[in-house]
Amino acid sequence: MNGKTLAQMAVEVLTTADGRAKTALSHAHAATWRAARAAGTPLQIGRANPPDHPARPVTPALLDPRDVPRRRPGSPQGRIAMLHAVAHIELNAVDLHWDIIARFTDIPMPLGFYDDWVKAADEESKHFNLICDCLEAQGSHYGALAAHAGMWRAASDTAGDIMGRLAVVPMVLEARGLDVTPGMIAHFDKAGDNRTVDALNVIYAEEVSHVAYGSKWFHFLCGRHDLDPKDVFHDLVRRYFHGFLKPPFNEEKRAEAGLPPDFYWPLTEDAAAS
Ligand SMILES: [Fe+2]
Ligand SMILES: [Fe+2]
Repeated sequence: MNGKTLAQMAVEVLTTADGRAKTALSHAHAATWRAARAAGTPLQIGRANPPDHPARPVTPALLDPRDVPRRRPGSPQGRIAMLHAVAHIELNAVDLHWDIIARFTDIPMPLGFYDDWVKAADEESKHFNLICDCLEAQGSHYGALAAHAGMWRAASDTAGDIMGRLAVVPMVLEARGLDVTPGMIAHFDKAGDNRTVDALNVIYAEEVSHVAYGSKWFHFLCGRHDLDPKDVFHDLVRRYFHGFLKPPFNEEKRAEAGLPPDFYWPLTEDAAAS
């Protein structure tokens, strides 16, 4: 054992800039956590000062979303741009999952909370590397194109509110991934890119559990504070998420992840207008 607390290990990942190095450290720390748990000697959670923004590589350049070129999947360049955007999302997700571990250590949580987010962070690290491998197989790489600058906003907005973080990150943003991934898989399937289809299928299967972890711990905290989960979810998403939720929803996978329709339908534009 290396004697570090889980919070220290989380901060080490957050402060590592290079994507491949960040994900290698993430895998190593997840393995250390799991081994200690299996031995019955869990690591201390500890306390840490996570950075306001995680360290990121020099490239990609981060642009305002309006200035990031549109992704049209009909051409090889369009598919590379789409993959590049997915890689960026996955790297951000690695940091988001380590950040929730490091950010809220003043709130006592069961060890299972940390088991879940360490596992999610480990999986996001795999996702990033799988998508980077796909990009490299097509002669590109992560960093070759510009990327979206606003990805850390949800984390900054909810840095002081663990329930807001759970509502917005896993239960809104990661749930959105479940809605859009099947369409993306269809584009790559049509193009005959089996490597990317396989990678996206791994991501699609594993993201269901990340949404489920969000829902599980959100409900846990509602129970602790005797709050109505649906009402609190609506309040927090309206407070911290900028915009409406967009149908069509993947109702089947959302249900599998513990997100019932009365959580998300009232947050659509149509529901707000009626
Ligand atoms: Fe992912
Ligand atoms: Fe995820």
